[in-house]
Amino acid sequence: MRIFVARKIPFWEEVSKPLVDAGHEVVVYPNHKQIERKEIEIEIEKGYDGLLTLLTEKVDEELLVHDKKGQLKVIANYAVGFDNIDLEACKKRSIAVTNTPCNEVNESVAGLAWTLMLALSRRLPEASEFMRNAAYRGWDPDIFVGRDMKGKTLGIVGMGRIGGMVARRAAGFEMKVVYFNRTAVAGATEGYIPKMEELLAQSDFVSLHVPLTSETRHMINGKNLSLFKRTAILVNTARGSIVDEAEVGEALRAGVIAGYGADVFENEPDPHPELLMMENVLLTPHIASATEGARKRMGELAVLNLVEGLAGRTPPNLVNSE
Ligand code: DGY
Repeated sequence: MRIFVARKIPFWEEVSKPLVDAGHEVVVYPNHKQIERKEIEIEIEKGYDGLLTLLTEKVDEELLVHDKKGQLKVIANYAVGFDNIDLEACKKRSIAVTNTPCNEVNESVAGLAWTLMLALSRRLPEASEFMRNAAYRGWDPDIFVGRDMKGKTLGIVGMGRIGGMVARRAAGFEMKVVYFNRTAVAGATEGYIPKMEELLAQSDFVSLHVPLTSETRHMINGKNLSLFKRTAILVNTARGSIVDEAEVGEALRAGVIAGYGADVFENEPDPHPELLMMENVLLTPHIASATEGARKRMGELAVLNLVEGLAGRTPPNLVNSE
C-alpha cells in the first residue's frame, strides 16, 4: 500500500522500518519545512492508503475531497493532540485516525510545564535578560526575589495522563495539589474540585492539560482570570486556544495574574503581540514533547498505527473508534 509522510520526523530511518518490512511504498515530503496546503492537496490526489500528518497539517473535508478514489484508510497524527483533524469528516469516509500518547510524551510535557512554573516563580526570564545585558554588578539580596514553592497550591485543569504526571511531581516541592476534571479520577478524590472557578481562586500555580475542543476553547478568559490570585502563575502546554490570549495579556498588564508560561499559541507560530512585551511571560516554541525519548516513541507509535491500520487491524491509538 502507499503511504505519504507529510514531513520527515526525527529518527525516521530507524522508526520507519516496520513500514518497509510490511512492503509499503512510502513517500516522504522531501523538504525540511511544513508542507504547503496546495502541495498536500496535490499529493493526496495521487492516491494514498495511509497518511502520516503532524499537528501543522489541517485535515478537513476540503482536504479529504482530494482523495478522489476514497483510497485513504488511516491517518496517523504525529502528536497526542488531534484538534488539527476533523474527526467527523474522517468518520464519514471511514478513515481511522490515530495519535501518539505515551509515557515518554507525558514525561516530556510534564517536565516542560514544571520548567515554566519554576522559571517564572524564580523570575528566570528577567534574570537571564539582566545577565545578557551585563547589568550584574555584584550580589544583592534585593534582586530577583522570587516565590517559594513549598506549601503552595498547584491547580491542574485536566487530570489525564499528562496532568497526573505534573501532579505527581508536586510532591517533591511539598505542594498541595487540587484538580478540576469533568469527573473525579477513580481513586483520586482528594483534591478534586468540581468547579473550575474554585480551583482558579485557590491555586498559586495553574497548569492546563485539557485537549482543545469546542468546550475547552477559551476556557480561561477575562471573566475567570479575575478570580485568580494576583500572585498566581498560569502555564499552558496544552493548546493555545484553551486560553483567550488577548485577555491573558490584559490580565498580565493589569496585574490580575503574576505570570504566564506558554509553549502553545492561538495562532501558531505567532504569540499575541502583548505577550511578547511582558517581563513576566516565558514563551517556548511548542517544544513540550521535544525530547529524544518522546520524539522517538511518537515516531514508533505513528508507524505502528499505520502498519496495524493498513493490515486491517484496529490500530492501538485509534481516536475515532465509533
Ligand atoms: C502533542 O503531542 O500534541 C504535542 O503538542 C506535540 O508536541
